[in-house]
Amino acid sequence: MVKASPNTPKWRRLLWPLIVLAVFLTPTLYWDSILTEVGTEVITQTIQIIRYSFATLAWLSIAWLVIRLLDVFFWEMLVAPSLGGKVPRLLKDVLAAIVFLLAITGIVGGVFELPVTGLWATSGVVGLVVGLALQSMISDVFSGIAINIDRPYIIGDWIQVHVRGIDLMIGCVEEVNWRSTKILTKDNVMHMVPNHLINQIVVTNLSRPQLNSRFELLFCIDFSVSSERALRILNAGVLACDGILKEPAPKARVNQITSRGVEYYVRYWLNPKQFSPSKGRHAVCSSILNHLHQAGVTLAYHKQDVFIANMPNRQLDIEIDRIQLLRRVDLAKHLTEDELATLSQNMKRHDLDKGSVIVNEGEQGDSMYLLVEGLLSVYRAVGEGDGYHTTRVGKLGPGQYFGEMSLLTGEPRSATVQCITSSVVYEISHGGLKKILGSRPELAEAIALTVAKRRVDLAQAEKNANHQNVDGHSDSSVTNDLLNRIRSFFFG
Ligand code: CMP
Repeated sequence: MVKASPNTPKWRRLLWPLIVLAVFLTPTLYWDSILTEVGTEVITQTIQIIRYSFATLAWLSIAWLVIRLLDVFFWEMLVAPSLGGKVPRLLKDVLAAIVFLLAITGIVGGVFELPVTGLWATSGVVGLVVGLALQSMISDVFSGIAINIDRPYIIGDWIQVHVRGIDLMIGCVEEVNWRSTKILTKDNVMHMVPNHLINQIVVTNLSRPQLNSRFELLFCIDFSVSSERALRILNAGVLACDGILKEPAPKARVNQITSRGVEYYVRYWLNPKQFSPSKGRHAVCSSILNHLHQAGVTLAYHKQDVFIANMPNRQLDIEIDRIQLLRRVDLAKHLTEDELATLSQNMKRHDLDKGSVIVNEGEQGDSMYLLVEGLLSVYRAVGEGDGYHTTRVGKLGPGQYFGEMSLLTGEPRSATVQCITSSVVYEISHGGLKKILGSRPELAEAIALTVAKRRVDLAQAEKNANHQNVDGHSDSSVTNDLLNRIRSFFFG
């Protein structure tokens, strides 16, 4: 009750009693004159109004009673047990609104005796206008109804809300009403998510199909830690954690290899009603971090290895870098640094144009060549008389050598060697090669093997011209024979 303040004038305290007295005293004193002034018609109308009011109130009371009956017998006794908890308020409200609408129709038709069809038609137009104005609200209402029918979650379920792959919140559904779904998170904050929005985003129900839900955490550990060790630490860490379920048992596994290290997932189960997901995450993370710490293992982080080395020579000089170029040639690959140095000093460089002939078949020769750059063709003359022509017996590429046959055996050049493209060759003289071969008998053997093979090719070319087959091949006896001849010619 509002108390008068000490400053209020005293006469104002008399105001209400005086008004009440006037209301009741005036009709009492002037009853006869009021009856003559107002007339019986007004009184009849007043009585009519009172009758309408009672009838209207009766309809509304019926509606109220029906709603209560529905509440008690339908929602609470039938629906609630089958839903296993609270009945969504939205459904109750929708049904109550329908009952009230019917009551209003009853009032219009039954009490005021007006045509009901007109009322429905008018309400349709009004509904259209209101609908356009309250689009988003109506979309919330229908989304709410859809949620109640489809029941992706019910009151008491634990849900996780994700938007574009980002986990927004984990909480318990408290209510689904006309406009929104209320989610209570473990930090005791109530989130109202509009129903139309919740129908458009991903909601994971952690309480379905069973109350226990599986959770997953990722840990990235450096490549240097063996997966066996990492799994031992992670498994022990998650098993030592209180609050999570022992069955199904938690486990750690390798998930994937990333640029940072090996990623492991740790899966564990918990009942969100007993142990909230955020508490579970905290417990598992801290236990695993503790186990990693005790084992002296840290989680992987972004890193880069920097090696400092001399700038590599990106282009060898044919003149200056002879030794390095020689290393790439088949024949010289296995020579020591000293031998390479000796050989490089006894070589003469030739830069040749396309089409140049380096050695001519039948001529005498006392040098051999190493091809550094370019492409060469080896051909020889075959056939006699009208059948005389040249045939290609081989192709030489960088790193290969030629001219060794004459140099080592003293025989005339067995074939002609010509440049297919412009080329660079090193020429090694008899004296230059002798210096190396004296200390490297295995080199003579390698060369003898090549010579033997080339001889077979040459012989085959000859026979091809005469349409015959070569019987011989580069077997070890031919190679040995050749080797002896090389030795006797070269070293005397
Ligand atoms: P030589 O006989 O001194 O001169 C010609 C050179 O051609 C010869 O040494 C070999 O080096 C080379 N030659 C001969 N036959 C072949 C072949 N079939 N394949 C590659 N090169 C060959």
